[in-house]
Amino acid sequence: MIDPFGRKISYLRVSVTDRCDFRCTYCMAEDMTFLPKRDLLTLEELDRITSVFVEKGVRKLRLTGGEPLVRKNIMSLVRQISRHLASGALDELTLTTNGSQLAKHAAELAELGVRRINVSLDTLDPQKFRAITRWGDLARVLEGIDAAQAAGLRIKLNAVALKGFNDAEIPAIMRWAHGRGIELTVIETMPMGEIDADRTDQYLPLSQLRASLEQEFTLVDTPYKTGGPARYVSVQETGGRLGFITPMTHNFCESCNRVRLTCTGTLYMCLGQEDAADLRAPMRRSEGNELLSAAIDEAISRKPKGHDFIIDRTTSRPAVARHMSVTGG
Ligand code: GTP
Ligand code: 5AD
Ligand code: SF4
Repeated sequence: MIDPFGRKISYLRVSVTDRCDFRCTYCMAEDMTFLPKRDLLTLEELDRITSVFVEKGVRKLRLTGGEPLVRKNIMSLVRQISRHLASGALDELTLTTNGSQLAKHAAELAELGVRRINVSLDTLDPQKFRAITRWGDLARVLEGIDAAQAAGLRIKLNAVALKGFNDAEIPAIMRWAHGRGIELTVIETMPMGEIDADRTDQYLPLSQLRASLEQEFTLVDTPYKTGGPARYVSVQETGGRLGFITPMTHNFCESCNRVRLTCTGTLYMCLGQEDAADLRAPMRRSEGNELLSAAIDEAISRKPKGHDFIIDRTTSRPAVARHMSVTGG
């Protein structure tokens, strides 16, 4: 699959549910309403669509949410998809999780061929963790991380950099992570969906964070690539790797290789655009996959050049109305 700008689409992110057991303040309002369960694709349908993407050249598949591990019977989907790893059609099957349910699933994920996972963790302070997630229990997430490491999964932590909340803590989170052989990626907050707070107050350009880290650490740019959007440095003092995801200050759209499927069968060609294609109707219209495959081709032919995100200082309105949890970031 090649888009109009010559970019090869080889990475599919699948949001298996819009639900989440946390309500991170930069992600959702406290009274967020979720889709009725009857609107969700079945796990069989998710498998069918992802399999067509794999046939069409997707080599990396990431399950996201909401929180992917709160979807009922999610491990049966992981098991189904893992056949593409076994056949060599897929290079990587992975997921991005908040870690709350990881302890129960880590061993099975590893057994099914998952090699590494990304865990969202914005602070190591239990009280602050409770505040940012609105009720999350840090200890459970840490148990999940321990279980994942014990099962042999590699871990990358994702921390959204929030001014006045965790910017001063990033060095400590990095030392903690690197001390355990865990990578860390920091992310600029993106203006997606209504939240209760004002994103303009929290937004931190990562060039500032990098400059302050450089007072204490030696950061060496590396060519390391995961197929995701982060640019990595290696940190001499810790021996670990630190990634920067900078959609706001330094966008990486020119090398975009990914599209996003929602749990209702909508394909978003860009995280930061509203344009989308419905794959559910063409899939349900026939038993064969020809209509579905044609709908995917048509969608890829409309993939936009890049996103429209700006943090607007005059209004705090989000640039994109849907929440990150609908398309899984
Ligand atoms: P790796 O495979 O480890 O590189 O993961 P990843 O960065 O592709 O995925 P992850 O789910 O960990 O996403 C980390 C952050 O990157 C999230 O906040 C995503 O929203 C953001 N992100 C991923 N892809 C894109 C993209 O295409 N555009 C933008 N603007 N942000 C993205
Ligand atoms: N901006 C940036 N990152 C976000 N995430 C959720 N909402 C936002 C946002 N508005 C992050 C989560 C998770 C990843 C999938 O996206 O913390 O790590
Ligand atoms: Fe849930 Fe992730 Fe959003 Fe937090 S950022 S509320 S863990 S989907």
